[in-house]
Amino acid sequence: MNSPAVGHGIDTAARARSAALEQQILADPPRFRVLTGERPTGALHLGHLIATLASRVRLQAQGVEVFLVVADYQAITDRDASGDLPGVVRGVLLDYLAAGIDPQATTIFTHSAVPALNQLLLPFLSLVTVAELERNPTVKAETAAAEARGRRGMSGLMFTYPAHQAADILFCHGNLVPVGQDQLPHLELTRTVARRFNARYSAGRPYFPEPDALIVPTPTILGDDGAKMSKSAGNTLELRATEDETVRFVRRARTDSERHITYEPDRRPEVANLLTIGAHFAGTTPEALAEEVGPAGAGRLKRVVTEALVEGLRPMRARRAEAAAHGPEYLDAILRRGNARANQIADRTLDEVRDLMGMRY
Ligand code: TRP
Repeated sequence: MNSPAVGHGIDTAARARSAALEQQILADPPRFRVLTGERPTGALHLGHLIATLASRVRLQAQGVEVFLVVADYQAITDRDASGDLPGVVRGVLLDYLAAGIDPQATTIFTHSAVPALNQLLLPFLSLVTVAELERNPTVKAETAAAEARGRRGMSGLMFTYPAHQAADILFCHGNLVPVGQDQLPHLELTRTVARRFNARYSAGRPYFPEPDALIVPTPTILGDDGAKMSKSAGNTLELRATEDETVRFVRRARTDSERHITYEPDRRPEVANLLTIGAHFAGTTPEALAEEVGPAGAGRLKRVVTEALVEGLRPMRARRAEAAAHGPEYLDAILRRGNARANQIADRTLDEVRDLMGMRY
């Protein structure tokens, strides 16, 4: 059911730590600053919504300060800049607003507009070894993929991306990063960079926090072909889809030949997927939903999921329409405001880093 790593000591400890963090968030939300984000490579879809956007909206509602990086420099780690990068970035921004991200409360910014953040990459690179970069799960996966393709090689930007990600998180002293269970190692290098920077340049009084991973549920959502939903597989339900497209997505989704509906993700992944989607929007659990539908079969399951999904996406569609009606200037203004705030914070951090490093001239 889960990856072999689950149940491993580190994961158990991380889960316990996450549960404790959830309590602390409720007790004292201003203590936390979340940084997360995505590469602007296309429109966000239902998989993003359920796996990542929903938890950001929840943290925002709990009063935690959230920073979202639209990581445009990360979009060019393995490809040329998209022909219409500004269009993709605006699309992601609309997806955020539709999902319920409040630009008054949450800072949304793009990498490329925040020079001081990017400059942090240089001191950070001095604190990590090539072997450590090579051990990063994404870098490792990219190396393997390049080898499978006959080794076209990896860009230097891809290789250094774990250190860049540390700059994304640490420039604003982010101390909480929501991750899926299988992404725990992604934060390790950031923690290492913070620890080494503090030890080397700020021994008495740690300057950077060692950010914690907040493990959030990130169920894998399948596309209408039964494979993991992803843009490259062409099987997504985009958040910007119309109601008709939403209905058709569920109609097309696969089920299986067993009549009685049960939640068995291993044995019945397609049915489990529909249950996960339906439960997410109905505010229940897949198990409870399976119990409810049970003998009524796949037809009934699809009707229930369609209704929950259409209802759940309706307010998002309304927010999107409202934001879009303001025109592109409205989106650009949100980004300009977010970038201004990110720059203010990054400039200050870089100044303090220069001071600590004895590089203030
Ligand atoms: N790498 C993330 C993605 O692929 C995006 C990202 C960039 C990020 N910087 C980050 C996520 C810092 C968490 C923290 O979508």
